[in-house]
Amino acid sequence: MYRTSSTSAPLPAGAYPAELLTGFAPRLIAWQREHGRHDLPWQNTRDPYRIWLSEIMLQQTQVSTVIPYYARFLERFPTVEALAAAPDDDVMALWAGLGYYSRARNLHRCAQVVADTCGGKFPSTVEALAALPGIGRSTAAAIASFAFGARETILDGNVKRVLARVFGVEGFPGEKRIENAMWALAETLVPGPEASDADVSAYTQGLMDLGATLCGRGKPDCERCPFSGDCVAKTTGRQRALPAARPKKAVPTRRTWMLVLLDGDAVMLEKRPPSGIWGGLWSLPEAADEPALAERARDFGVTQEGAASSSALMPLTHTFTHFKLDIEPRVIELKRNAAPLEANDGQTAWVPLGKIDAYGVPAPVRKLLDGLRGPLI
Ligand code: ADE
Repeated sequence: MYRTSSTSAPLPAGAYPAELLTGFAPRLIAWQREHGRHDLPWQNTRDPYRIWLSEIMLQQTQVSTVIPYYARFLERFPTVEALAAAPDDDVMALWAGLGYYSRARNLHRCAQVVADTCGGKFPSTVEALAALPGIGRSTAAAIASFAFGARETILDGNVKRVLARVFGVEGFPGEKRIENAMWALAETLVPGPEASDADVSAYTQGLMDLGATLCGRGKPDCERCPFSGDCVAKTTGRQRALPAARPKKAVPTRRTWMLVLLDGDAVMLEKRPPSGIWGGLWSLPEAADEPALAERARDFGVTQEGAASSSALMPLTHTFTHFKLDIEPRVIELKRNAAPLEANDGQTAWVPLGKIDAYGVPAPVRKLLDGLRGPLI
């Protein structure tokens, strides 16, 4: 690992080994020329219309799925003007089955903008391309690189995986901070001015090819990879851990107040409604906040004069599958010592702490009540 600490911040490009940074593009280009893909239908052309069409179709979609659609589109709409002039319904019908239909609507709008305001010619810079409907930063760079030989970097999901593994970039690449660091790293890797247009295209294609073939998500084929000697993921055995997965969504927390109403050694339990959490179990009376809990205590006949003491216990947290429950227990001890033991009207019951076992009580409530058998906090 080239990392110097265990924080999750990606390292700045300056922290990567210089020979890996400078050697990356030439090694990738050499590998692409020998082992990469060369006969995809949108290769071996510099026609920006064809390249743009393929790149939009290839967003989130596999090459094998795209190939027949690409052929049908080109046959029906051989030029950007032909596509621009087509009725919406025709475009959508031809796209049907490719998914992500906003791509088709943007494709059509983009064709109309290029036909109507750019004289039918796609612009050649990343900035102008990225201003067109449906063209993001990485797609703009791919078009600029393949059609115009521009020294621009792409950074799609496959490329993020390659860079995260080779350079050991920690953190989830979908997070803005990590993504920005990856753009910065990717930019330092682009071939310099000595590279020909063909080199630039081979480099861009090489990034895509490596990510789609050897460095796939599932089982990377490190033995055949040109970077296996330097790759952080390979040399540390972390191919599965890099790139980091999307962090799990934080589980929401709910808070509830529970009334521990004690009469001698008996506690008041209440039967919960049949559905919802702990449906049908016996539990402590609950309320959504402290004043509401005080009101519930009054409903149970508790008066200020009748309470010997009231106190708070340590809050506890119970984790359900989809949320956490913070429980705030409030104890009220009655003076009267007069509860009819085990009086149970089917809805509420006075239960001696030693007999809780006979009732179906949720585990955290049970734990809380067990704690009462010792001294109160
Ligand atoms: N994925 C995105 N662009 C691609 C391209 N030009 N070739 C193969 N796969 C791709």
